[in-house]
Amino acid sequence: MYCTRKISPDIHWVGGYDRRLALFENMFPIPEGVAYHSYVILDEKVAVLDTVDAAISRQFIENILHVLNGREVDFLVVNHMEPDHCANIEELVRRFPNMKIIGNKKTFQMIEQFYGDGMSDRYYEVKEGDKLSLGKHELQFYFAPLVHWPEVMVTYEATEHILFSADAFGSFGAANGNLFADEIDFGDQEMEQARRYYTNIVGKYGVQVQAALKKLDGLKIEMICPVHGYLWRKKEMALILEKYDLWSRYVPEKKGVLLAYASMYGNTENVINVLANLLAERGIRNLRIFDVSKTHPSYIISDAFAYSHLVLGCPTYNSGLYYSMSSLLHEMEGLLLKNRKVALISNGTWGPAAGKIMKKELESMKNMELISEPFEVKSAMHPEQISVLEQLADQICASVNQD
Ligand code: FEO
Repeated sequence: MYCTRKISPDIHWVGGYDRRLALFENMFPIPEGVAYHSYVILDEKVAVLDTVDAAISRQFIENILHVLNGREVDFLVVNHMEPDHCANIEELVRRFPNMKIIGNKKTFQMIEQFYGDGMSDRYYEVKEGDKLSLGKHELQFYFAPLVHWPEVMVTYEATEHILFSADAFGSFGAANGNLFADEIDFGDQEMEQARRYYTNIVGKYGVQVQAALKKLDGLKIEMICPVHGYLWRKKEMALILEKYDLWSRYVPEKKGVLLAYASMYGNTENVINVLANLLAERGIRNLRIFDVSKTHPSYIISDAFAYSHLVLGCPTYNSGLYYSMSSLLHEMEGLLLKNRKVALISNGTWGPAAGKIMKKELESMKNMELISEPFEVKSAMHPEQISVLEQLADQICASVNQD
C-alpha cells in the first residue's frame, strides 16, 4: 500500500521509514529509526527530488507510482549521492526511459563510481544558480559542498519558496506520522535527535555549513524539506536555523558542564561524582554525566557541542589512555570540536600518564582552554585531596559564570 503525503498542492512526500536499522552508517545507534525523504513535484514536467535507501525501495516505488498516477518522470534531481539517498537512481532510470538526471560534475563522477557509466546519456548538468522551469514551478540549484559530501547541492523551489536541503537540517528518528516539526510539541528530545545527527554526521564541516547558510540568507523560505527527520515551517524553522548557526560555529548552546569519564573499578567515577556534587553546590544547574564505556560516543559528542564546559576523567591504561576515552577524544578531534573550557581528572596506580596525554590531545584541538592542570589521583581519591578538588570546582564555576 502506498504511504504518501501532500506537502503542498503539487508537491508530494514519497519517502519512508526504517525502524529496523540498528546503526545509521553502520556506526550510530538509532533506537527511534530513521526517515529517508524523497519528493515529487507534479507540474507540466514532473520532477523527483532524491531517492531513498535500498532498505525501503519497495515502499518508495509504490509511493512514486501512486503519486504519478500513470505519468512519467521528466527529471530526477540528485542533491546528494550518499547511498541512503541515491540507492534507487538505477531503478528510476529503468522505469522512466525519458527521465533526465539533474546533478553537477561531481554528482556524475560519483554516479559512475557507484554504478558505472551506463546512465551518462541521461545527465543534465547544472551549475551554481542555474534555473529549471517545470511549468508553474521553478527550480534553482545552489551548491553546498561538504554539507555533507563534496557534490551536495540544495534545490530551491521559487514559486512556493521551498528549500530541498539534502542532509542539512535533518534529524535521526522515524516520524510518528507527523512529518512536520510543527505537527508535534517540538521540544528538547526532538532537538537532541537533530543535534546528534548534525554533530556526528556533518559536525566537521562547520565552515561549509556557514557558507551554505550565508548563500541561502537572501532567499524567502516558507518550508525546508531535508532528506531525514522533520520538515520545517514557521517558528520551528527559525529555531533549527538558529541552532545550525551555533553548531556550525562551534558555539555552545548552554552554560553548563558535561562530565565524561572512563572508570575501570569506580574510582575515577567517584571523583567525577564528587566534583559534580561540588559544582551543584556552587549553583551549576546544567550538569550531565556520561560513562564513556556505557554510552555510545555519538550521544556524548552531541552534548559536547551543546555544553560550554567539559570535564574528562580517565585512568591510565597500557601507559596510554583508556581506549574508550581515547576514542571519544579522537572523535572530538575528527569533528573539529573547538571553543570549550576543559578540566581533566587523571588516574593511575603506577606510571600515571592519562592527564598528560589528554592535555596534549586537547592542545592539538583549536581553542580548547584548560581551566587548570589535571587533577591527579593515584588509584583512588582520599579526603586530603578534597580541598584541591574544591578549588577546581571553584575555578570551573567561575569560568561558567563568566562566559
Ligand atoms: Fe543522509 Fe549524507 O546522507
